Amino acid sequence: MPMDDLLQPVRQFLQCATPSAWLAEAMKPERLAILLQDHLVCELKAAQTAMYLLRRYACDTSSAQTLLHWLQPFEAFAYRFNGDVDSLKQAEKLQKKIIGRSDFAHSDMIIDKMVLLIREELHHFCQVLEIMQARDIAYENITASRYAKGLISQCKTHEPQLLIDKLICGAYIEARSCERFAMLAPHVDETLGQFYVSLLRSEARHFSDYLELAQVIAGKDISARVQFFGALEAKLITDPDEDFKFHSGSPV
Ligand SMILES: [Fe+2]
Ligand SMILES: [Fe+2]
Repeated sequence: MPMDDLLQPVRQFLQCATPSAWLAEAMKPERLAILLQDHLVCELKAAQTAMYLLRRYACDTSSAQTLLHWLQPFEAFAYRFNGDVDSLKQAEKLQKKIIGRSDFAHSDMIIDKMVLLIREELHHFCQVLEIMQARDIAYENITASRYAKGLISQCKTHEPQLLIDKLICGAYIEARSCERFAMLAPHVDETLGQFYVSLLRSEARHFSDYLELAQVIAGKDISARVQFFGALEAKLITDPDEDFKFHSGSPV
């Protein structure tokens, strides 16, 4: 699929484009380390978000344990600086089948989409780490930007709306990531640019998978809620933001 066809639904879904001031900041050579360090953490967080949804809503108790073990080597690296890229590459694939909970009609759909998503995010994690190592950029524990917190804080607290809201937030985070990778790609060096382009297909699918899950699970029109989170997301992206990160707002 040509890149424009891939990006068209992503750009249509987002209520604003990334401000050119963010791109100008992101292109500065001194921003490369923070961009890659934050990207690395974002890949893990994407896997953790999907993992939470699987464990909370979709899988049986023994599968929930299997899933916890799957992420552990990546969390040990990110939070305790244990392990290396070779051992993480061995841990990317899930070795056991995940069994769905029988009391939730959408278990299998969540499992099919989220297990694939986690596998891809963990693969991206290893790819980012290799790119950092090739450039002598050390991994550091960095603080989270306001972006994801700002979205999640507006989720309702009652079910099933909480699940639907989280899925819509997931769609926005994935869509914005996809838009930013596409925007950055022509302005970074060739290796990094090719890597960003290689991420577009999976990130665009993650966006549409989250949105589809939200629509199917809601079983009714969710466009008002999508609009609500779209406006909030656009505000987080365009409002001034002192903390430069992959998902930050307009640099001040
Ligand atoms: Fe990813
Ligand atoms: Fe993703």
